Parts: sequence; structure tokens; C-alpha cells
Amino acid sequence: MRVGVIGAGRIGGNIARFLTRAGHEVLLSYAHDQDDLARRAAAIGCRAGSVAAAAGFGPVVVLSVPWTGIDAVLSEAGQLPGKIVVDTTNQFARGEPADLGGRTAAQVNQARMPGARLVKAFNTLTAGFQAEAAGRTGPERVVMFLCGDDPDAKTVVAGLIADSGFAPFDVGGLADAAVMEGPRRAGAVYGEEFHPADAERFFGTGGAAR
Ligand SMILES: NC(=O)c1ccc[n+]([C@@H]2O[C@H](COP(=O)([O-])OP(=O)(O)OC[C@H]3O[C@@H](n4cnc5c(N)ncnc54)[C@H](OP(=O)(O)O)[C@@H]3O)[C@@H](O)[C@H]2O)c1
Repeated sequence: MRVGVIGAGRIGGNIARFLTRAGHEVLLSYAHDQDDLARRAAAIGCRAGSVAAAAGFGPVVVLSVPWTGIDAVLSEAGQLPGKIVVDTTNQFARGEPADLGGRTAAQVNQARMPGARLVKAFNTLTAGFQAEAAGRTGPERVVMFLCGDDPDAKTVVAGLIADSGFAPFDVGGLADAAVMEGPRRAGAVYGEEFHPADAERFFGTGGAAR
């Protein structure tokens, strides 16, 4: 599958590496220095290009930029109607949580991308841990939580999560995203390592809103 990645940093770089390793075609975009971007893409074995090129590359676009930069990068990306957008972002600016007015961060981002099929994923664990834990097997396989309002988009993203070396676990719709969003706290999965059996126990049989 062709996947455009917007954000060539820790999480975007990880996802580009996971998916390239699994045989997907990836175009990596968005860094301050275009030569550096090209070097990072070459090291991964994927293409490099502009944000607009990543947005238009295929059916899936990964959004992996700092919270405060989302509006600016989306204006470079252009409209994303029909695209499956994998939202890895967390709503922190200089360590402080943004005021979301009672919505989840995933809902706020969906409103910024009308018509996109947003699926939140890859946001609950640090980039370093994701890089180290990808590919574990059996009961030690690490859970990657996801949520979204479009069932077909979630199926596609669950497949990409599995290809990345994690166990996908669906927590529901974008309104249910708070459990995946920071800060780290009791009753949330943000910042915690889960294995499939832990996740089943945490959400109860069948999971929450699945
Ligand atoms: N790091 C984590 O452990 C982690 C875990 C889960 C979720 N997240 C979330 O995932 C998102 C990405 O985090 P990250 O840690 O991957 O961030 P990051 O390493 O700082 O990467 C951000 C990317 O965006 C690029 N960028 C930022 N501003 C830019 C600008 N004005 N012009 C051009 N390029 C620009 C950076 O370019 P340069 O490389 O040139 O600076 C970098 O490639 C965030 O929303 C974060 O909250 C992070």
C-alpha cells in the first residue's frame, strides 16, 4: 500500500521504517532541512518529497507533527477528503496540555480535516519504546491502540499496525479517544505498555465500544 508520512521525526520516521520493512511504499515528508530529509528517507529505504506529495501519494496519510504545527502543515497538505489519516499527535504544547473545549484531541483533528477518515494510533507509547518493541511475538506482542469513526479505515490501519509489528486494539470512535490521550493517569492507556490479554482485561470482554 502507498503511505505518505507527514513528519520525518521520531514517530513519523519509525512508522516509515516499520512500513517500508513490511513491503509498503512510503513517501516521507516534512523536515526543516530537505537534504537531511532525503538522507533520512534513504536510510529507511523510502522516498522523500513535499508535504503535498505525501498527502497525494496514496490512500493513507500519516500525520506526525507537533500539535502546534498541525494547522500550518495541513495548509501545505491541502484538502484530504476520503484519505485515511493516521493521527499520531498528542495535544501538548511545550509540555502543557492544550485546552480542547471538552472534545478529544482526535475530534479536534477530525474537524480540521473535513472528509478525511481519521484513525488515531501510534500515539500512546514513546517513539523509543515503539522502535524497540516492534515485532515482539506471542503474548509479549505490544498492543497499539486505535480509534476512529470509519470502520473500513480502522480495518486498514489495524492491518498497518499489524504489519508494523504490534497487536491492534480498537477502543471505539473518536469520541472514545480520551482513554488513549494524555496525560498519563489511572484509567487511561496513554503511556502504558499493554499486551493483548491486558487490553482485553482493561476494556472488558470485547473491548469498549467495539
Ligand atoms: N516522540 C514521542 O515519543 C511521541 C510518542 C507518541 C506520539 N507523539 C506525537 O507524535 C507527533 C510527532 O512527534 P515526534 O516526537 O515524532 O516529533 P519530532 O521528532 O519533533 O518530529 C516532527 C517532525 O516535523 C518536522 N517539523 C516540525 N516543524 C517543522 C517546520 N516548521 N518545518 C518543517 N518541518 C518541521 C520536524 O523536522 P526536523 O526533524 O527537521 O526538526 C520533524 O521531522 C507529536 O504530535 C507528538 O506529540 C510523539
